Amino acid sequence: MAEMNRWSRWFVNRSNARRSAKVLRILGPHLELPAAPRILELGAGRGGLSALLVDRFRPSKLVVSDFDPEQIEAARSYLGRRFGPLPPSIELRRVDAMQIPFEAGTFDCVFAIAMLHHVEAHHFDYRERPKALAEIQRVLAPGGVLAFSEFSRTVEMRRTLIELGFLPRFERPGWRGRELAVFGTRVVGAPDRRS
Ligand SMILES: C[S@@+](CC[C@H](N)C(=O)[O-])C[C@H]1O[C@@H](n2cnc3c(N)ncnc32)[C@H](O)[C@@H]1O
Repeated sequence: MAEMNRWSRWFVNRSNARRSAKVLRILGPHLELPAAPRILELGAGRGGLSALLVDRFRPSKLVVSDFDPEQIEAARSYLGRRFGPLPPSIELRRVDAMQIPFEAGTFDCVFAIAMLHHVEAHHFDYRERPKALAEIQRVLAPGGVLAFSEFSRTVEMRRTLIELGFLPRFERPGWRGRELAVFGTRVVGAPDRRS
């Protein structure tokens, strides 16, 4: 795992708002979140999706997080321009997806958009990712959802998610080889919602 260099950061961040709108248009209808949900965004980058999540879901808690402190500052500046002084419901925080510093069951939804391959020492490995997925599962409340977009090792990732007890709610091969998906955690005693 490594922080992106400034050119990669620039490249990713310049299309962040446009891509985020598209991602939310596709994933949004499959999220089924409670009112005022608690949301964690991992690897949020510049914060384009975070702003859209505020507009759409009015979260009671939104943690906008990234491993890279420069990305946190980019998100702080973008969200500041969008909303002015940030309300206490929005927290910007440095978080490593491999070790998420929250109690079990804290969130109704975790977003991981184009970031899960970044936990690997090499992007196309599949060594560290199961640990990050287990961390996501741990911090989700029963019935919570993971929404992600990913292009590498999606078959292995699906297998790990099923092994961790997730159920697929929506899966769609996206544009440019990305897979867009929503996986839900099980609610004990609830019917299996496998689609
Ligand atoms: C390709 S960018 C995607 C950013 C944003 N989600 C988007 O769609 O524009 C990947 C992001 O993941 C972050 N990242 C890398 N490793 C991470 C880790 N271990 N935990 C959390 N975030 C990480 C990077 O700093 C970067 O901001």
